[in-house]
Amino acid sequence: MSYRSHGAGSSQDAPANPERHLHRGQTIHRLAHNEPVNDLAPLLTPEGRALLDAVRGTAPADELAVATRLRREHPADLVSAALGQARLRQRAEAKFGAEDAGRMFFTPNGVEQSTRASVASYRAERFRALGVRSVADLCCGIGGDAIALARAGVRVLAVDRDPATVAVARANADVLGLADLIEVREADVTEVDTAGHDAVFVDPARRGGRGRIFDPEAYSPPLSWAIGTALKAPHAALKVAPGIPHEAVPADAEAEWISDGGDVKEAVLWFGAGAGAVRATLLPGPRTLLGRGLPNPRVRSVGRYLYEPDGAVIRAHLVAEVAEDLDGGLVDETIAYITADELRPTPYASAYEITDRLPFNVKKLKALLREREVGILTVKKRGSAVEPEELRRKALPKQHGRNAATVFLTRVAGAPTMLLGHPV
Ligand SMILES: C[S@@+](CC[C@H](N)C(=O)[O-])C[C@H]1O[C@@H](n2cnc3c(N)ncnc32)[C@H](O)[C@@H]1O
Repeated sequence: MSYRSHGAGSSQDAPANPERHLHRGQTIHRLAHNEPVNDLAPLLTPEGRALLDAVRGTAPADELAVATRLRREHPADLVSAALGQARLRQRAEAKFGAEDAGRMFFTPNGVEQSTRASVASYRAERFRALGVRSVADLCCGIGGDAIALARAGVRVLAVDRDPATVAVARANADVLGLADLIEVREADVTEVDTAGHDAVFVDPARRGGRGRIFDPEAYSPPLSWAIGTALKAPHAALKVAPGIPHEAVPADAEAEWISDGGDVKEAVLWFGAGAGAVRATLLPGPRTLLGRGLPNPRVRSVGRYLYEPDGAVIRAHLVAEVAEDLDGGLVDETIAYITADELRPTPYASAYEITDRLPFNVKKLKALLREREVGILTVKKRGSAVEPEELRRKALPKQHGRNAATVFLTRVAGAPTMLLGHPV
């Protein structure tokens, strides 16, 4: 191997009308048919909006007291819906920021599946740079991507087949003042005519009843449909899981892996420009590393510095490009740690100065940490089955001092090895 390698939560409210008993979130289920229907409308009335303001920022521990108080003057299901929405808004803050999340509407699935604003706006800017002025956003969800596109000045046709999700996407376009630029349509994307748009963007559903879906053909709609649609448009971008095998990337596409704050968020297949190119983009920034088609880096002895490439670089198989820029090599042919003698600044990898190298041996590590008066130990690993927490407990049973250190559990030229150092 090379280194490339709605919620069914039960409501406590007695159903005023058994046909419309409210469950968690803003979806009402007709119990008789278990058919979800859009229930956003009551929250968009003046009373609903006032309730949303009243429950803003309610801590989970206070929900019961707040609900009891508000139910004296408002329908119980509306109070529950407002509280459910407040909870979703809090969850959405990490993706959309407190200001937008506090005004937007969500469904439980919509929060999970939406693109975070940083990534969506980066992609929207790329579309704009390609001269794209209108996009068919196929599988728009609650509108994470449509919002970013509209904010970049791009006109959007946003399509989703789920009625509750469509209602939320429409409300979001409205509340963010983007309704002039976003047309939300309830439809199956496979039946939508995208002719007349400069580009299509597809973000298929990658979660099923049993969790995440890894087979791109099991996405909804399947990746092959998305690729066929992309090839018919002047420009296209398809959002896929970062774990997509490189062999599944069509020859006519450019593949881009995107991380934000060091966490890999997605891969995007771009059509209409850059066929065959590979890039890793790090946010915030953005900083983009373009593949140069280099062969695997050489393996060399451990030098003074160890570089840990960003996850997007590793997923994009661009470790060789970073190694070349650092005049470094790999510590082992199967491991994505780069080692070099010089310290060179790079946004694509974190640098550590290595002070000690020892064969994998917990007792020796423990003694070394005591000698170095290490009190804070970060454990990183690649190519080791050791459980970092367990190692930390065994190697650092008590605080020896105020020094911080990082230990890398890895293989060096095939041998299980510990490299001790600190971030530069
Ligand atoms: C990953 S989410 C989209 C998230 C969106 N990009 C965002 O940032 O908010 C996928 C969406 O695809 C929708 N979907 C799946 N298959 C569909 C189809 N055949 N037609 C229309 N919508 C579909 C689902 O209802 C879901 O809302």
